[in-house]
Amino acid sequence: MKRVLTGIQPSGHITLGNYLGAIKPLLELQNKEDVELLVFIADLHAITVNQDRQQLKKNIRELAALYLACGLDLNKAHMFIQSEVPCHNQLGWVMECNSYIGELERMTQFKDKKQKQTEGVSAGLLTYPPLMAADILLYDTALVPVGEDQKQHLEITRNLAERFNNKYGETFTVPEPYILKTGAKIMSLVEPTKKMSKSDSNPKAFITLLDDINIAKKKIKSAVTDSEGIIKYDVVNKPGISNLLTIYSSLSNISIPNLEIRYKDSNYQNFKEDLANLVAQFLTNIQEKFNYYINDSNLDLVLNSGRDLAYHVASRKIQKVYRKIGLGRY
Ligand code: TYM
Repeated sequence: MKRVLTGIQPSGHITLGNYLGAIKPLLELQNKEDVELLVFIADLHAITVNQDRQQLKKNIRELAALYLACGLDLNKAHMFIQSEVPCHNQLGWVMECNSYIGELERMTQFKDKKQKQTEGVSAGLLTYPPLMAADILLYDTALVPVGEDQKQHLEITRNLAERFNNKYGETFTVPEPYILKTGAKIMSLVEPTKKMSKSDSNPKAFITLLDDINIAKKKIKSAVTDSEGIIKYDVVNKPGISNLLTIYSSLSNISIPNLEIRYKDSNYQNFKEDLANLVAQFLTNIQEKFNYYINDSNLDLVLNSGRDLAYHVASRKIQKVYRKIGLGRY
């Protein structure tokens, strides 16, 4: 049985990008393979930048309910909150001590996020990848469903696992990223050459899974395209329409070439109308389930049992790691 693990930061409502890039592949694996899923809320990662206490608490709970609303099957999946399993911090430190500042400074996401900080750059922003490596390596994870932007973090995770194994003997499974061909990088609806991000200052740039349905439809209808009027996938010359085709294809599972054929004699307005309706249908379905789970007292029980299982697995790995390094009295 393969172990699949992924995490999302509770730094805002999750976007259609997060869903298509990370949750959709997670659900695909859940349905297809002989797997055990570990899904967590990466709250320790979220505090690498400033967070409001009340908002963070709310986001954590909402993300838990959203994971369930998206279709996580609790017969196969365990869901937990990262900060409730202290082994993440423990292995995170060990990973930091095996990382080089130079390789961390080269991370694209660090360079991007560093630019955006107005009140100083936290050290956590730099040491984020070793913590992410710890998240993955604690559980002998085989597959990590993520979007394109996390590929580099997966590479450093693999390097850290191999580096540790070479230095101290076989300890960690070297994980593989699981990145879908379509949907791994959903772009902003306003600037389609930029990634869709939940922290974008312009709310028209992204759709969250909890957006008001009519507002979400408007965002699709006003998405930036081009003046050519031809529905064709061409990322370089037509990034806006290509992004909408990607969203359409990912949500409907109709291939992009088939969509191009279907809309050959159509126009942007009709295409956007259909996509807006598809998005509306998708969001309505998730929001109905979300409203149920967010008010369900079982949510805490699910998080408790996920935490206990995660701790059970992770603490054994920590003991092994400490013993190999020579820490404490293990
Ligand atoms: P985060 O919270 O930024 O994003 C969560 C997941 O969504 C994917 N994603 C996207 N996919 C497609 N298009 C987009 N526009 C888009 N935006 C985001 C991300 O690639 C990610 O898979 N570091 C991670 C959280 C994390 C993690 C982990 C993930 C911490 N530890 C261990 C996997 C395994 C992050 O910040 O994701």
